[in-house]
Amino acid sequence: MTPPAASVEASLYAGNLLVNGKIDSYNPHLMTLEELRVEIEGLERELQERMARIDDDASLDALRVDFLGRKGRISGLFKHLGSLDASERSEAGQLLNTLKERAGQEIARVAQKASAEQLASQLDAERVDMSLPGVYSTFGHLHPMTLVQREIESIFMRMGFSVAAGPEIETEYYNFDALNIPVEHPARADWDTFYIDETSLLRPHTSPVQIRVMETTEPPVRIICPGRCYRRDTQDATHSPVFHQIELLWVEEGLSLANLKYVLEVFTHEFFGEGYEMLFSGDYFPFTEPSVQVHIKAPGATDWLEIMGAGMVDPAVLEGVGYDAEIYTGFAFGLGIERMAMLKYGIDDIRVFLTNDLRFLRQF
Ligand code: PHE
Repeated sequence: MTPPAASVEASLYAGNLLVNGKIDSYNPHLMTLEELRVEIEGLERELQERMARIDDDASLDALRVDFLGRKGRISGLFKHLGSLDASERSEAGQLLNTLKERAGQEIARVAQKASAEQLASQLDAERVDMSLPGVYSTFGHLHPMTLVQREIESIFMRMGFSVAAGPEIETEYYNFDALNIPVEHPARADWDTFYIDETSLLRPHTSPVQIRVMETTEPPVRIICPGRCYRRDTQDATHSPVFHQIELLWVEEGLSLANLKYVLEVFTHEFFGEGYEMLFSGDYFPFTEPSVQVHIKAPGATDWLEIMGAGMVDPAVLEGVGYDAEIYTGFAFGLGIERMAMLKYGIDDIRVFLTNDLRFLRQF
């Protein structure tokens, strides 16, 4: 093949190498306009074919480099412009530019489509189903024992009582001696006490808190003390070795059993509702004199229900803490919180408070 008559300059312009004063034979042929046209059409066809077969990023990249790269097929054709006449050169330049532009657009379009598809499939994979129910946690609520205890506390606090507390591990002194139950007293044996050692025990009632408060307070004293108590009771529907009491103590000048009855009537009305009747029957506690058992009867009911032990504080107890029993009188009671809750809500087994059955707990 005869090299076309082309100037050395034009050939250099087209990117050919000059080796020893001659145009490099590696690229000996510079195309005519006609040949360029055929070449461009061929490239266009090839572009279409290869575009149709693009199936991943890598093959699209290879196509881009092959056609549009700095050393690619299209820029290779620009070399030939230099050998054309000026009149042909602008037409050939236009054809090449059009090819280059079209190839750029086609490749960009496919790349865009691919990334849109990729985005769509990513969105699809990471889809969040907004119609699913949410994942929510329950917060729970206070135990019925706590609720009832707080309700009782709030009733007495509104009547002017404050809340006191004492230890669950108590000494014999506060639990017995100071409450007028000396060592030889038979009542000491009645309490079914859990002893920790020779002199300390799990308190079987909240009455020792009366002593602790009076020891450190001058009268008048007006307190309630809620707390856990322990007795060696065999567990059944109405007994539990662990239970809760609320103690009440009011010491002031001039108090009588009538004041106790009034306080209890207000409480019963607030806690249980209207129309309850109340009855005191005689009882015995070493630390109260007289001692009573308090019973209530629901409106329309026939049975009396025993709700607490109570009485006027024994003068010996008042003297024991240094109060002048000639001036001060007082009354006290101790009620079982479980029993109150059972009566109020019709619960027939005390064990449900400790077994944590959610079907029970959720009702409160
Ligand atoms: N502490 C007595 C009991 O647990 C109840 C009580 C308290 C009685 C205060 C009288 C006065 O049985």
